[in-house]
Amino acid sequence: MNLISMADLSLEGVMDILDKAQDLKEKRKHGKTVDLLRNKSLVMIFEKPSTRTRASFEVAMTSLGGHALYLNWQDIQLGRGESIEDTARVLSGYVDVIAIRATHDIVTEFAKHATIPVINGLTEVEHPCQSLADLLTIYEFKGKFSGLKFGWIGDGNNVCNSSILACALTGMNIVVACPKGYEPNATIVEKSKDLGGNAKITHDPIEAAKNADVLYTDVWVSMFDEEREERLRNFRSFQIDKALVDKAKHDVIVMHCLPAHRGEEIAPDIIDDPRSVIFEQAENRLHAQKALLVKLLG
Ligand code: CP
Ligand code: NVA
Repeated sequence: MNLISMADLSLEGVMDILDKAQDLKEKRKHGKTVDLLRNKSLVMIFEKPSTRTRASFEVAMTSLGGHALYLNWQDIQLGRGESIEDTARVLSGYVDVIAIRATHDIVTEFAKHATIPVINGLTEVEHPCQSLADLLTIYEFKGKFSGLKFGWIGDGNNVCNSSILACALTGMNIVVACPKGYEPNATIVEKSKDLGGNAKITHDPIEAAKNADVLYTDVWVSMFDEEREERLRNFRSFQIDKALVDKAKHDVIVMHCLPAHRGEEIAPDIIDDPRSVIFEQAENRLHAQKALLVKLLG
């Protein structure tokens, strides 16, 4: 099994991962050693920078008794033209699972030729590992998914696309507020409807924030984007600030996948507001990915 898209998982699959993640989180808190992945190896191939994904995958493998290897795109033969097919076939002979951060076409091509599970470590289209940690965080704070309002403010980007699918799988009602021209991927929105979702797209941040249980934002300029100045102009009125958070339910949780640009998509004081769960969310990358790895390899 691969994890390229959130749509690769069923609701049962998601809940299985979340249960395992909570169990592993609890065990870690009590200092219990769990070596479910003894002698297993993960290779990470990253074409773009990463703090959370890289560090949490490496720590996840080590603390489960396995091993992780990080390969920078430019340091391996892929960077000077070796084919994706050959790279995928060779690495499949060395390790047990591959996590890759590159364009969606490359990740899909990699998965086609690898003979071991391939995990999407972020493409311009999706970021499913982030969504698993987000679901874990929402479940911890809200104790349920069904019927929650998930307000997305900002760019209809990779994290937004995976959130739309995550909401469809778990029965959350997502309302995406983005500037015109920055809507989420239309194919993914369609796919989410096939999964029973009811994603709503608007250009009014207040519509997304009003009575929300979860408020989420991400950077205005993602790693695969180029036109920074134009984006900064177009996204000006899509900042999560106190006035917007106050429109949500009194017990709203504010989320951000990080890295954040304080003062752009999120007001600096909101990151540290009591309603923010951003750093719990970041920690949950570790627990959710441990559970994912165990599901794929255990
Ligand atoms: N949220 C996330 O994926 O962060 P990194 O880019 O640091 O991995
Ligand atoms: N949308 C952001 C997410 C970073 C984790 C990006 O692609 O850069």
